[in-house]
Formats: sequence, C-alpha cells, structure tokens
Amino acid sequence: MTQIAPLSIIGAGNVATHLAQAFTQKALPIEWIVARRLEAAQSLCQHIGQGQPSQHLHFEMAQSRIWILAVSDDALPELAARLKVPPGSLVAHTSGAQPLAVLEALAPTVSRGVFYPLQTFSKDKEVEMKKVPFCLEGDTPQTLAHLFTLAQSLSEQVWAVDTKQRARLHLAAVFANNFTNWMLNISERILAEADLSPQLLAALRQETFEKAQAIGPEAAQTGPARRANHDVMRRHLALLQDQPQWAALYQLISQQIESHYQKKH
Ligand SMILES: NC(=O)c1ccc[n+]([C@@H]2O[C@H](COP(=O)([O-])OP(=O)(O)OC[C@H]3O[C@@H](n4cnc5c(N)ncnc54)[C@H](OP(=O)(O)O)[C@@H]3O)[C@@H](O)[C@H]2O)c1
Repeated sequence: MTQIAPLSIIGAGNVATHLAQAFTQKALPIEWIVARRLEAAQSLCQHIGQGQPSQHLHFEMAQSRIWILAVSDDALPELAARLKVPPGSLVAHTSGAQPLAVLEALAPTVSRGVFYPLQTFSKDKEVEMKKVPFCLEGDTPQTLAHLFTLAQSLSEQVWAVDTKQRARLHLAAVFANNFTNWMLNISERILAEADLSPQLLAALRQETFEKAQAIGPEAAQTGPARRANHDVMRRHLALLQDQPQWAALYQLISQQIESHYQKKH
C-alpha cells in the first residue's frame, strides 16, 4: 500500500482549524501543527486527533513536503524568513491580500504558492469545504499542479488566480462579505433600540442572498433609494439623528443607488 505524504500547518487560528479538520476528514495525514502558543497547537491536534504540536520553526528533518502557512497577513514575511523546511518542500500561504512574493525568502530551495480558500471562516462555525472556491497560485506550473491536486481533495471549486487578480478578488470579497455583515450588524442594533427581535429580519436576510444569487444584485435592488423616494429617505435620516455615522453611511449608499439607477433610465 502506498503511503500518503503528510503535510503540516503553521497557525492554529480560524483558517488553520478549518483546513486541519478538512484534511483530517479526507484522511490526509498531518505531521505538525505549529503555533506561537504551544497550547493552541496542542488543542488543535487534540481536536482533529492527529499531528504533533510545535512552537519552533525548524523542520529540516520533517517528513512533510507541503506546508500551509495559515497565519495573520502581517506575520507572513517574518515567518517566511524564519521557517526552515526540507529542500524541495512547497510552502503556501492562505491570504487573499498578500502577494506570492511575500514568501520570497524561502527561494530558491523551497517552492512557493498560495492556497487561498475564498470563504469566511470562524473557528466555531462549520463550513461546507467542498463548496469553497480555492484560489491557487504557484511559483512554477509544477507547484500549481501540486496545489491543484491538494485543493481538489477538499473542494469541487478550484481556480488558478494570480497575485494581481487575487488582490481584486479579495477587495470584492470585502464588499460582498465584510461590509454586508457590518450592515447586518447595524440593522440588528437599530432593531434592538426599538426592542424588536433580530428574528424579524431572518427571512429578509435569507431572501436577500437567495435573490442576489438567483437574478444578480443589479436586478435584485429594491428600496427607497432605487425608487428615488426622498420623503421616505428623509424620515429614515430623521430616525438616525443620534447616530451621525450611520446617517452618513445611509446617505452615501442611497445617493449611489439612486444615481446608478437614474442613469439607467
Ligand atoms: N478567517 C477568514 O475568513 C479567512 C478566509 C480566507 C483567508 N484568510 C487568511 O488566512 C490567514 C489566517 O487567517 P485566520 O482568520 O485564520 O487568522 P487568525 O484566526 O487570527 O489566526 C492567525 C494565526 O496566526 C498566528 N500568528 C499571528 N501572528 C503571528 C506571528 N508573528 N508569528 C507566528 N504566528 C502568528 C496566530 O497565532 P496566535 O494565536 O499566537 O496569535 C494564529 O494562529 C490570513 O492570511 C487571512 O487573511 C482568512
């Protein structure tokens, strides 16, 4: 029976946890889980039932030939400079916002790549990994091919995306997810001020995303700004008198929606 080569993960945060779980579910062996705090690495090893925890970064004698660097964006340059892995290994980071070149310190004996899962990950929220688009980049076609094989073992959606494209993809993802989520946060706080349950918004939230998927956001837009209903917008702004920052957001977004749809008519 051929043995599958193990891989290792640097980091024990949101992405590291989800990837470690997903590799484990696919019976891919994990050799090392590395974290700044040993307890964090220990707890992830315990959670997935495999791997050895470590705090150090010297792995010249390790078995792993693939190293996933799932750490904070800011830590990548420093870790790339300090990480010691066997020559011929492949090190890939998971950041949407960092270029492939951030791993340059590992060249030329180590191949570099990007293994960016385009999803929002929080440790305690399950994600259906097979639906997550993996956006990959490699320093050579061979590196990219290795990363494709690995990503295809986890997901049905695997894409080659270079550094320039990924920067725009990440920007788009910030609008689609981070900003949308912030709007949902504001909307819940507006309800709370009137003692209303967030449950009241549940069906609307669901339909918002289903409709945007079904007919696209351009056609899905409704609301007072789309209808250029200034009377309603004035009343909303009056309700936001004590929240000038939300009022400023309301005005900015409403103006953009109104002028966009007016230009179309
Ligand atoms: N979360 C997402 O939705 C998401 C989605 C796609 C891609 N990403 C990308 O994936 C990467 C990890 O994100 P995350 O959400 O998993 O972050 P996270 O939960 O904050 O975890 C970051 C990990 O990096 C470690 N770390 C931070 N600074 C370090 C340093 N100087 N040296 C060594 N380790 C350090 C942290 O260790 P400590 O616990 O010791 O601080 C932690 O294990 C980032 O590049 C992010 O952009 C995130």
